[in-house]
Amino acid sequence: MKFKDVYAPLKDLPCTEESQCRVLYDWILKMRPAECLELGFLYGKTSCVIAAALDEIGAGHLTSMDLTLVLDHQGNPNIHDNLAKVGLADRVTPVLSTVSYTWELKKVIEAQSHGNVCEPKYDFVFMDGAHFWETDACTFFLVMKLLKPGGWILFDDYMWSVDTSDWWHKAPEMQDKPKDFRAERQVERIVTLLVSQHPDIETVLVRDNWAWAKKRDDAQTKKTPTVFHLTKTIAMDWLRQKLHLN
Ligand SMILES: C[S@@+](CC[C@H](N)C(=O)[O-])C[C@H]1O[C@@H](n2cnc3c(N)ncnc32)[C@H](O)[C@@H]1O
Repeated sequence: MKFKDVYAPLKDLPCTEESQCRVLYDWILKMRPAECLELGFLYGKTSCVIAAALDEIGAGHLTSMDLTLVLDHQGNPNIHDNLAKVGLADRVTPVLSTVSYTWELKKVIEAQSHGNVCEPKYDFVFMDGAHFWETDACTFFLVMKLLKPGGWILFDDYMWSVDTSDWWHKAPEMQDKPKDFRAERQVERIVTLLVSQHPDIETVLVRDNWAWAKKRDDAQTKKTPTVFHLTKTIAMDWLRQKLHLN
């Protein structure tokens, strides 16, 4: 589906603006990621844009996660309505969580784990959800387990802070938070302190309010530690030796 055809029925929805949706669409067309994951869909605007690009290629799938409560937002059609409107429901699997996408990612890691190895699943992950350090620092490490070597993560709202967010700066639960927490650009901190320092990340590109990160083509997925589950019958001498206490 062409960009103008998917964007026209969505143009009045809030969040990601047209120029960014266009970059996202063009990037999908160029890079052809087969398995995509979106964290934070709200009304499904960017989900529809990603799905339209996959449809244009003729291959690929998007899994998109958000909280169950977004289905009941008043005033705007929800993700199911919007996907039906553009005729792209078969390209997207919405995952609704009553907890958090970090909990849903735990389930994906379980499904992908065999023995002591988690088989990566996704070629592209679009992170546009919580933006808070507490959630998305953890999310980044979960996503790294599931991202294939050579895959990309796109972080939206690089400049986001509680103080500059129209919605969050008024939220009752933010009023007792320390000044530095409210002022901090928390996505920028994640990108600078975690993503850019990660040994499996090859490139980080920051442009305007977005940060793109590429996982190394040669990132190791199979090198894992040996894990021992010990019973009480194991001799204490053996354990002391393993712990380098002798
Ligand atoms: C900015 S909106 C997403 C907008 C969408 N990507 C677009 O541009 O059309 C952020 C979404 O992240 C969701 N979100 C925030 N924290 C979350 C969490 N811990 N688990 C699941 N969803 C979360 C919110 O419910 C919200 O719908």
